[in-house]
Amino acid sequence: MSAHVKLCLIAARASNNVIGSGGDLPWRLKSDLAFFKKATLGCPIIMGRKTWESLPVRPLKGRENIVMTRDWAYNAEGARVYSSFAAATNSARAVAARTDADKVFVIGGEAIYKLALPIADRLYLTEVDAAPDGDAHFPEIDAKQWKETGAEQFEAGEGNDFAFSIRQLDRISAFTSP
Ligand SMILES: NC(=O)c1ccc[n+]([C@@H]2O[C@H](COP(=O)([O-])OP(=O)(O)OC[C@H]3O[C@@H](n4cnc5c(N)ncnc54)[C@H](OP(=O)(O)O)[C@@H]3O)[C@@H](O)[C@H]2O)c1
Repeated sequence: MSAHVKLCLIAARASNNVIGSGGDLPWRLKSDLAFFKKATLGCPIIMGRKTWESLPVRPLKGRENIVMTRDWAYNAEGARVYSSFAAATNSARAVAARTDADKVFVIGGEAIYKLALPIADRLYLTEVDAAPDGDAHFPEIDAKQWKETGAEQFEAGEGNDFAFSIRQLDRISAFTSP
């Protein structure tokens, strides 16, 4: 297991923190999907069973897919399946070390973001300029613990239902002076 592998959350959230509705995404953001693919390719990705089942194509190619479920008999063809977050992250880090990947991504949904946020090193947050109804939310983040280290704006149109910005946030190290 390599200590320098960053645990990253990648998520798109609305201004009301909604990330999903009825098991699906509440928007179509072509440029964000392209960013997601570019960012995660070559890296292990960890997701909940519901997000796995929501994927249009399973597994996502070019990435080790890791699925969390409490069902020991669950069969996710083309993916590794774990029943604890520690086992899922250990497996992901081991794969990353073996394949020289410098990141492991947690790709959702709400349940798995909640487990991962307390130990995440980096967040890739797509802030969607909309407030749709939904039943899945991104957990509250404590702004004091995070520093924005990158941001890019995208306009609505051309396959993007809404305008959005993609922000990169890095955890402020405990050793950083105030
Ligand atoms: N906007 C975004 O960036 C984004 C990204 C991903 C997903 N989403 C959306 O989020 C929604 C899904 O989120 P969700 O919270 O409902 O589902 P989820 O996090 O994808 O999956 C939940 C499932 O994960 C398993 N699980 C959760 N905690 C566990 C634990 N501690 N140990 C073992 N297994 C555990 C359980 O599976 P079992 O029931 O099989 O035991 C649980 O039902 C969908 O609407 C999806 O489209 C949005």
